[in-house]
Amino acid sequence: MELYLDTGNIEEIKSVIHTGQISGITTNPTLILKSHTSDLKTFKDILLEIISVMKEERDDFTLSAEVTHINSVEEIISQGRELASIDSHIIVKVPLTKEGLEAVKTLSYEGIRCNVTLCFSLTQAVLAAKAGAWCVSPFVGRIEDEGYSGINLLQQIKQTYDNYNFKTKILAASLRSVEHVHQAMLLGVDMATIPKSVFDKLYYNPLTDIGVKQFSKDWEEFENARK
Ligand code: E4P
Repeated sequence: MELYLDTGNIEEIKSVIHTGQISGITTNPTLILKSHTSDLKTFKDILLEIISVMKEERDDFTLSAEVTHINSVEEIISQGRELASIDSHIIVKVPLTKEGLEAVKTLSYEGIRCNVTLCFSLTQAVLAAKAGAWCVSPFVGRIEDEGYSGINLLQQIKQTYDNYNFKTKILAASLRSVEHVHQAMLLGVDMATIPKSVFDKLYYNPLTDIGVKQFSKDWEEFENARK
């Protein structure tokens, strides 16, 4: 399963990219705002900076950049083309609305890869696949905020995409915990995007720490006996 970092923060990307675990970056307008309130960089500049940082580590990454001109199909198509023309690593992120999916149909036909975002139901996910989306992003955490199981939805989308042989990938999004990532892995979804706080926790297990301490202590004892 490919892991993506869900962020607009350049320092966060720099701090994890060398691990080799991150296949790309997903952003959204909220994440961009959060990390760039005190600078005056344009959206394009931020995207170019992320791309340049990513390129230092690997060339086979993607960067999801969301359209913000969403009042009509034409607006979405026009901004989608503009974003895609910035760099070939960019995936155009389009909200799962009627206008959004109509735009995805055109953009996908033109060979522009689209990440259909803000997916909260199976029927929405099927429409996204039928529109030709490169991937769909079901928002697991936000579904759970409403008291439903986001993991069940992931499972239903996975099964339905397999049943119909849809080629659209599933990108589990809005993941809030290691348990979410664990469940997404078990389901065999293609990709998961996570904040840095969750990425850091993926490495951790208390038994590993206890084991490392014990081995170090025993090795010291072994060496000391030979001095
Ligand atoms: C996905 O592409 C979104 O950027 C993201 O996962 C949203 O997560 P949140 O619900 O924690 O804001």
